[in-house]
Amino acid sequence: MTTVITGASRGIGHGLATAFAALGPVIATHRGQAPDAPALPGLEWQTLDVTAQDSSPDSPRALGSRLTGRPVDLLVCNAGVYLGKGLAFEDLKPDHWAQTFAVNVTGVARTIQALLPNLAKGKRPRIAIIASAMGSDTRAPGGAYIYRASKAAALNLGRNLAVDLKPRGIAVGIYHPGWVKTDMGGDGADIDADTSVAGLIAQFSALDLQDTGCFRNYDGSPIPF
Ligand SMILES: NC(=O)c1ccc[n+]([C@@H]2O[C@H](COP(=O)([O-])OP(=O)(O)OC[C@H]3O[C@@H](n4cnc5c(N)ncnc54)[C@H](OP(=O)(O)O)[C@@H]3O)[C@@H](O)[C@H]2O)c1
Repeated sequence: MTTVITGASRGIGHGLATAFAALGPVIATHRGQAPDAPALPGLEWQTLDVTAQDSSPDSPRALGSRLTGRPVDLLVCNAGVYLGKGLAFEDLKPDHWAQTFAVNVTGVARTIQALLPNLAKGKRPRIAIIASAMGSDTRAPGGAYIYRASKAAALNLGRNLAVDLKPRGIAVGIYHPGWVKTDMGGDGADIDADTSVAGLIAQFSALDLQDTGCFRNYDGSPIPF
């Protein structure tokens, strides 16, 4: 089983890449300098900035070209940002909105577009979008406007892609990794990355066409939209 994981330089993505490498070939993506990571057999690093222009060697399109002809069984769209954290609504800048949506929404769509031919060649192909429970309209306590809106859009993207990709045999799941102790989640988060990663791997493995369009927590519990 070949797995592609975006944003694998640190945090949840890094944990997923090292854990999946024990299960089969993994293509893990990073920006800039290759990360300091154990040389595991089957773990291959590729550059990817999900916001890079199509003409850039770091773009999703360029990654798709480099992987031409290689089957991908699972694509994990994990790369994400949480910009303007803690800012009051009045202090949010247009750049915060543009950058966040470029990574958390457009970046997910562009990565999936670029790797659809690879997924079409995969065995039981699946796409896992790492969104957030903060993107659920049923949890709207105020604040974190940009991040919440971007994750709501990622959820919406995944739900609609699930419908369109089902006839092609590609399942799509949308996931909340928990509140995780990473650079983004902070030290006060609920769970460590290993706990999140173990749960997510079990969820990705259970994903099938019957369950396509699901929105689940890392522990398998459904999250209301
Ligand atoms: N931690 C939590 O509590 C939590 C909760 C809910 C959802 N999530 C979601 O889970 C995912 C992973 O979060 P995390 O906590 O592991 O975050 P993190 O520690 O901040 O890591 C984010 C990863 O995304 C990469 N990335 C950022 N911008 C990118 C771009 N333009 N192109 C490609 N890669 C890019 C980063 O690469 P660089 O190292 O190059 O910056 C890094 O590898 C995110 O989608 C996040 O929104 C996290």
